[in-house]
Amino acid sequence: MSGLFIKTLHKIAEFYDFIELQKIVWRLKDYGDCVPSHMLMAVSESGGLILGCYSGDQLVGCAMIIPAYSQIDGFYHHSHILGVHPDWQHKGVGLEIKKEHYTRAQALGVKKVTWTFDPLLGPNANLNIAKIGGIARQYRVDVYGDLMGGSELVSGIPSDRFWLEWLISENRVIERMKDLEKPESVQPEQDLEPVNKVSADENNLQKMESYILVNDKDRVVVEIPSDYQKIYDTDKDLAMDWRLKSRDMFREYFKEGFIIVDFYKVSKENTWQNYYLLEKGTEK
Ligand SMILES: CC(C)(COP(=O)(O)OP(=O)(O)OC[C@H]1O[C@@H](n2cnc3c(N)ncnc32)[C@H](O)[C@@H]1OP(=O)(O)O)[C@@H](O)C(=O)NCCC(=O)NCCS
Repeated sequence: MSGLFIKTLHKIAEFYDFIELQKIVWRLKDYGDCVPSHMLMAVSESGGLILGCYSGDQLVGCAMIIPAYSQIDGFYHHSHILGVHPDWQHKGVGLEIKKEHYTRAQALGVKKVTWTFDPLLGPNANLNIAKIGGIARQYRVDVYGDLMGGSELVSGIPSDRFWLEWLISENRVIERMKDLEKPESVQPEQDLEPVNKVSADENNLQKMESYILVNDKDRVVVEIPSDYQKIYDTDKDLAMDWRLKSRDMFREYFKEGFIIVDFYKVSKENTWQNYYLLEKGTEK
């Protein structure tokens, strides 16, 4: 993106900017739930990466990447606190940070990157799954508790998250990272009706009415809100209703062996409809 550049942050003064940005992005009332400067320094000095995206001297996007290890995967990366200033959201900054991370992770020989994201947020699903080829095999309930008690972006709703896996040495990801200019993810076959029923009121606030468990197919489609953040900002009870019903649905499908392999949006009048594609028994 023109006018923007990404660099690694190392200095305490840069970390203070990172903290200010966290406070703005997560609409925090105070600094209590920001990752503090000493933690950013510790991660930076112990094999992690603190990435900042700048427009001139303004920090507009950030991410903390933690070095991680498991017996199965060996050395891998866990990404946390990817945030983009509200004035800059949905303009490709998040994608630029992911591209930078991809290049650096490949140079380090990292094969897998993980992070968590709210399954009901379309922009996050669009970036994480459709654009850069992440998959989700696990649904985790209330991972962070009531994270960020003072956050007007997420507080008061259980922090359920997909555990995203970005398998950066696999073709699925390599192909998508080569093809990032494609306009939208590809819609699967037309005959895949969503397994959940979603209605909308006169203000276009969507509600999940019900879902069915389909176990005679290997591919199913699930609808999520076109704008869950708007539902959260407008009607907390409805946001909670989505959380609880979709939690049951996703957990049942994961239990049946389905995983999230794609996401796509379909334009509809002034908005769009958002869908996940789930596949059964696919070891990606
Ligand atoms: C999530 C976040 C980091 C993404 O960064 P970003 O710079 O906004 O993302 P990008 O612009 O690169 O990609 C978002 C995509 O979703 C699309 N999008 C926007 N609103 C959408 C919606 N309601 N439903 C589906 N897709 C949507 C955007 O149009 C864009 O796709 P496009 O480039 O094809 O048009 C950023 O929005 C953010 O900071 N959100 C608040 C904090 C947060 O949720 N952090 C992530 C924690 S895991």
